[in-house]
Amino acid sequence: MARRKLCVIPGDGIGSEVTSAATRVLLAATHDIDMVHAEAGWQTFCETGDSVPSETLESIHQCGAALFGAVSSPSHRVENYQSAILKMRQALELYANLRPVDGRWAHPPNQVNLIIVRENSEGLYCGVEHGDSESAMAENRVTRRASLRIARRAAWVARFNRMTRITIVHKANVLPLSEGLFRAAAREAIEAESANIEIDERLVDIAAFELVAKPASFQVLVTNNMFGDILSDLAAYWCGGMGRAPSLNLGDEFAVAEPVHGSAPDIAGRGVADPSATILSLAMLCRYYWQDESLASQLESATIRAIRERYAPGERLEFDTNQFVERVIHFLSLNHRTCAQPTTQ
Ligand code: IPM
Ligand code: MN
Repeated sequence: MARRKLCVIPGDGIGSEVTSAATRVLLAATHDIDMVHAEAGWQTFCETGDSVPSETLESIHQCGAALFGAVSSPSHRVENYQSAILKMRQALELYANLRPVDGRWAHPPNQVNLIIVRENSEGLYCGVEHGDSESAMAENRVTRRASLRIARRAAWVARFNRMTRITIVHKANVLPLSEGLFRAAAREAIEAESANIEIDERLVDIAAFELVAKPASFQVLVTNNMFGDILSDLAAYWCGGMGRAPSLNLGDEFAVAEPVHGSAPDIAGRGVADPSATILSLAMLCRYYWQDESLASQLESATIRAIRERYAPGERLEFDTNQFVERVIHFLSLNHRTCAQPTTQ
């Protein structure tokens, strides 16, 4: 098998701490990956005038897979600026954003095991706005093509994880044309993909309530860009908070793993950021992009063991990124020993 390549893009704030922590863990689990580094983010924009320079895109093209840390963005308009992650999603056609929420990552653990499949290429995120300080308008583009392909991806994710129900989340009661189009196309695509998948649907407000009240009733959720952004933060409560919420931006050719959290400037540089979400995002890359389930589950179970240990009674409260990484690597090595098979030549 050709060696796998990973483009590591730290980004802003705690991005460099969590990406270097996660890549240390990855290299302890396998020697079979070549890594290159590239730049993107707000800092990069300030220095070069481009949040994702063309060399960075070129490097992702060459590697196929990337890990992105975190991005800071100003909340006021800056001429020619676009958030690095949005730019990568568009430039690389990363049309699906997979956001799992697994109760085993929480402390104490719970039964939740769901995955949000977020449409990642259109909706309100096309970023087309008109107006002035009196009145403003944002375009919410919904196409049949993008709705069909995200629903197909949701069906693929369901099959991959042996899940049997997909919930389409929309707001077609208020926006029958745009949200109605999404709902109808999603239904059509899932029906065509698999007869064994039960199709369910929820209005987004009810979905939010049920994600709080009975989260274990969900399996796969498929929804638009903005609802997926909001619901994935809400649901992350069930896997232990934003420090435990991984994601994978996935297209037909490329994949960018990215923790759901932001750049946390308040704790940046102090060595206290929780790298779990970034390690778990790498596990997603292994699972869905390289289709290496063995490596994915090794990374995941070592992380779960380190989380359990970290929150055992009597453990001190200040998080220590380095110490956590060392414990994950320790549990990986135990796992290697337990799983080692006698070799024959
Ligand atoms: C996310 C982030 C991004 C988004 C921001 C940084 C543009 O919140 O990945 O969820 O809204 O998609
Ligand atoms: Mn978000």
